[in-house]
Amino acid sequence: VNDRRESLYIVSGWAAKFFHQQMMETDEGKSIGLSYFKERGFRDDIIKKFELGYSPDVWDALTQQGIKEGYNIQFLEDTGLTIRKDNEKLYDRFRGRVMFPIHSFTGRVIGFGGRTLKTDKAVPKYVNSPESDIYHKSNVLYGLFFAKKSMRDEDNCYLVEGYADVLSVHQAGVENVVASSGTSLTIEQIRMIGRFTKNITILYDGDEAGIKASLRGLDMILEEGLNVKVVNFPDSHDPDSYVQKFGSAAFKTHIDQNKKDFILYKTGILLKDAGNDPIKRAGIIREVVESIAKIPDGIKASVFVRECSSLLQIEERVLISELNKIRLGKI
Ligand code: UTP
Ligand code: MN
Ligand code: MN
Ligand code: MN
Ligand code: MN
Repeated sequence: VNDRRESLYIVSGWAAKFFHQQMMETDEGKSIGLSYFKERGFRDDIIKKFELGYSPDVWDALTQQGIKEGYNIQFLEDTGLTIRKDNEKLYDRFRGRVMFPIHSFTGRVIGFGGRTLKTDKAVPKYVNSPESDIYHKSNVLYGLFFAKKSMRDEDNCYLVEGYADVLSVHQAGVENVVASSGTSLTIEQIRMIGRFTKNITILYDGDEAGIKASLRGLDMILEEGLNVKVVNFPDSHDPDSYVQKFGSAAFKTHIDQNKKDFILYKTGILLKDAGNDPIKRAGIIREVVESIAKIPDGIKASVFVRECSSLLQIEERVLISELNKIRLGKI
């Protein structure tokens, strides 16, 4: 193993312990960080399991402690935990934030997300670790280490947007949940899920951005040959707020009753957009067929052609000829 990368793992693991201990054992940490997580409904076992923490609201608490304990400043800088200003003054990237360590799929800490406690819109809600030699955000899924066993057992993966969604859904007993947090879903992330299960269920936020992201994600997942379903949440809710407000039984019922395969989901959204406009309605056919054309498995694709045909009241042969046009166009 590369010594330098090993050092970055070590310093990141140490920082996670520092933030966790600051939250559990200092007055500031307990009254600000821990009480924040408690108010959001996170249990102690989840706080421990995911090593949640708090970064003190001063310039250089972590940096000074690291120096005191003999950590090489270069490694603190390389992980982005410490920032050097004008080649001179050292300060902490994360200050006065609740901390979510990001683990590799083998369980080592590789980066952090830090959430502000302020409601001031000028302050970014989350600050994340920068890319480093051990943290490539397009290759990381938040929660994967804690989800992978359940992903295999359940043969499904729930995909959510954010850190808090992973925690609340996991806490509700649905442990096969990961987030692409901080990036839009990537091919690498889909392939990583594919090592544990071929079935993905998207649970994105119920707002406009969540719906857009789900349509993009759906096409990428189909292209990778995985199966995809989507569950909508009421506008203004995300999986975290839903399960915290209505409880885990209602959350599971909501999933069971609203789980849609991608054609049903996509046509539903497009039909709502199109209203009674006949030209727009015709455009829907093409858009849905474009998704079907992404499915590499011809047999699977033909099943969806049939479903699409009955859903949109279009003859199968019309859809197949559209499908072939798109496929030929792609070559
Ligand atoms: P959301 O805005 O939906 O936040 O962003 P959230 O997860 O629901 O956060 P809470 O519930 O208010 O705490 C979804 C995800 O996008 C990333 C984070 O990973 C977040 O969890 N994000 C969001 C950022 O990286 N930076 C931001 O400023 C905002
Ligand atoms: Mn690298
Ligand atoms: Mn959102
Ligand atoms: Mn949220
Ligand atoms: Mn959200």
